[in-house]
Amino acid sequence: MAQNIYDNPDFFAGYSQLPRQVDGLDGAPEWSAIQALLPGLSGKRVADLGCGFGWASRWFRSQRAASVLGFDLSQNMIERARADTEDPAIEYRIADLETLELPEAAFDLVYSALTFHYVQDFGRLIRMIHRALTPGGDLVFTIEHPIFMAAAHPHWTLDEDGRKTWPVNGYSIEGERRTDWFAKGVLKHHRTLATTLNALIGADFALRRIEEFAPTPDQIAAMPGLAEEMERPMMLMVSAFRR
Ligand SMILES: C[S@@+](CC[C@H](N)C(=O)[O-])C[C@H]1O[C@@H](n2cnc3c(N)ncnc32)[C@H](O)[C@@H]1O
Repeated sequence: MAQNIYDNPDFFAGYSQLPRQVDGLDGAPEWSAIQALLPGLSGKRVADLGCGFGWASRWFRSQRAASVLGFDLSQNMIERARADTEDPAIEYRIADLETLELPEAAFDLVYSALTFHYVQDFGRLIRMIHRALTPGGDLVFTIEHPIFMAAAHPHWTLDEDGRKTWPVNGYSIEGERRTDWFAKGVLKHHRTLATTLNALIGADFALRRIEEFAPTPDQIAAMPGLAEEMERPMMLMVSAFRR
């Protein structure tokens, strides 16, 4: 059973104040890198898995997607997405990606941002998404990079020069990882890079492009706090398509 930490009031209050939730997609430094991975959207039927506040769902429609179906485990997130959306071609539903079944060949694009690392049974999810896509349909997703996930537990330490370092612990030990972020004991699921990519290959996806997000020099100049993202990859971004 999934944890649903986004319905924890303390977690939700903290999470809602993040720049990427207050300012939307432009508040996420990786957004331009994601856009470069996305296919043309005109006329596409899109599923947004772990849609959160619905920022991307609404953007897909602004790019002339035919329809967007957003799914999220959290009632808080879905209520907020519904409140912020006035578009009959966008529908939001509460669903757990551990058990969600989508209709076959019903979508041209399945998109997910920073959600799949909360899912334990990644292989099942990827096989289900493959069936739900039309042949040639796209899967674009981001997750916490497996090195970031392994490095963040325990979190950074300071070296003798007072510089943050991120020891990578137990990278090859897959499974549950707990972190304290807005709430204690937030549950995520660590998988190596190989496991992640092999799940896609095993489900008969073709890989288009893989990115390990790092901020640009301009982004770091504008927001110096981003410099630490150069120390270890924070996000893995994948673009694939159904054969
Ligand atoms: C980091 S947020 C990302 C939200 C949105 N994609 C964005 O980029 O703003 C992760 C989202 O995944 C959702 N989530 C976590 N586990 C889930 C699950 N098992 N099934 C469906 N959604 C889940 C959370 O409720 C949350 O809205």
